[in-house]
Amino acid sequence: MIVIAIDGPAGSGKSTLAKNLAQALGFVYLDTGAMYRALALKAQRLGIRPDDAERLAQLAESLAVEFRRDASGEQRVYLDGEDVSEAIRTPEVSNLASQISVHKGVRQAMVARQRAIGAQVSGLVAEGRDTTTVVFPNATLKIFLTASPEERARRRQHQLQMQGIEVPYEQVLQEILERDQRDSTRAESPLTEAPDAVRIVNDGWTKEQTLAYALQICRERLGLPAEAPHG
Ligand code: DC
Repeated sequence: MIVIAIDGPAGSGKSTLAKNLAQALGFVYLDTGAMYRALALKAQRLGIRPDDAERLAQLAESLAVEFRRDASGEQRVYLDGEDVSEAIRTPEVSNLASQISVHKGVRQAMVARQRAIGAQVSGLVAEGRDTTTVVFPNATLKIFLTASPEERARRRQHQLQMQGIEVPYEQVLQEILERDQRDSTRAESPLTEAPDAVRIVNDGWTKEQTLAYALQICRERLGLPAEAPHG
């Protein structure tokens, strides 16, 4: 089994890179953040408070979250059979996901599920905050993807605009800084750079440039053919 694990802060372009790499290499893409987001959405709907560690851990263990491809090949996220791909991307759910993911019981349940998904496939690209350090510590290739907070805030604002959500730049930047702080200082599996990860800082790069650079690293490190298959 080949596992490429990518961690990095919010807005670094992990999801886009992981999705593109998985497609280029014919691997399965695992968006671990989407699992925490789905849990946050469900907790919100049930009125479970973000500090209720016990109920959240129970919920995480029984959470019916699935990834399915639509007709165009786009990966969608389902919660209890409902397509929540857009609903889990609101600023409110982003903040809630960051808050609920601090709990040990929640993380244990999620990590177990993520490993189970990895065990079923021959090639995986996983991304999140702890995929290089906790979920897949023996990953074949580890990447730490990052960019300055200002660049990441600009990207996040653009993404939100694409969804028809208008948020002032200063507010997006503030939320990014708060999430960075919480994700990297929590006691349980904080976002840290694995010592054996390849660090990519992609300020000013397009997603195509980030993909090309990462593919180059994959070829060098994994002995993949010069021209990766597409589709
Ligand atoms: O990658 P993302 O922005 O979709 O993740 C949403 C939140 O989920 C993030 O702020 C922290 C949490 N998360 C986590 O704790 N561990 C992961 N492996 C992925 C996400």
